[in-house]
Amino acid sequence: MAYKVLIINGSPHAKGCTAAALEEVCHTLENEGVQTETIHIGNKDVRGCVSCNSCGEKGRCVFDVNETAPKFEAADGIVIGSPVYYGSPNGTLLSFLDRLFYSTHFSKHMKVGAAVVSCRRSGNTASFDVLNKYFTISGMPVASSTYWNQVHGFTAEDVAKDLEGLQTMRNLAKNMAFMIKSFADAKEKYGLPEMERGSFTSFPDGL
Ligand SMILES: Cc1cc2nc3c(=O)[nH]c(=O)nc-3n(C[C@H](O)[C@H](O)[C@H](O)COP(=O)(O)O)c2cc1C
Repeated sequence: MAYKVLIINGSPHAKGCTAAALEEVCHTLENEGVQTETIHIGNKDVRGCVSCNSCGEKGRCVFDVNETAPKFEAADGIVIGSPVYYGSPNGTLLSFLDRLFYSTHFSKHMKVGAAVVSCRRSGNTASFDVLNKYFTISGMPVASSTYWNQVHGFTAEDVAKDLEGLQTMRNLAKNMAFMIKSFADAKEKYGLPEMERGSFTSFPDGL
């Protein structure tokens, strides 16, 4: 059975710190028998979601996340990497993820999600929390590691010296591969749990 993970680099730098962390994840996943594809979106001109709700009818965004959507649908897991900008994931990535997650209606249930963040000094854990929320609203189990999934650096050379950060990336990938394989077995044995979808409550009474 071929397992696939989609890796998204949200940094504007193709060879920067986020890329260095993601490459470590990528190599370890491949060693664990999981195929990977990396997409670099941080250098693209991505506008924020304009809430046109066209995707509600068409199941696709008016913008160009549509090339990524089928890759996400086919994947058993996704790794999202971001540099930290003012204590948050970078804006281009957030615009991209809002569009990707909001516009796609295929089930993401039990696809494994992992967030990876890179900062020079601080703001990693807040950024990590933001990214994990895309997974936890989508029925996606979150892969973890032996520390929060973060590296430190201003350049890729700095990240190469962050030995614990890189170790965290390798351990993350091993856990992710294990989860993907285990969920595949469990889906065969038990099927996916059924989700209720009937209620959509927007606090109409203000209570
Ligand atoms: C606009 C901007 C804001 C930044 N804000 C932070 C920050 O809040 N905390 C921090 O430690 N580093 C901050 N940085 C540095 C980057 O997060 C850091 O260098 C990161 O590792 C770069 O990753 P990259 O090479 O993949 O782009 C900022 C950089 C930029 C360009």
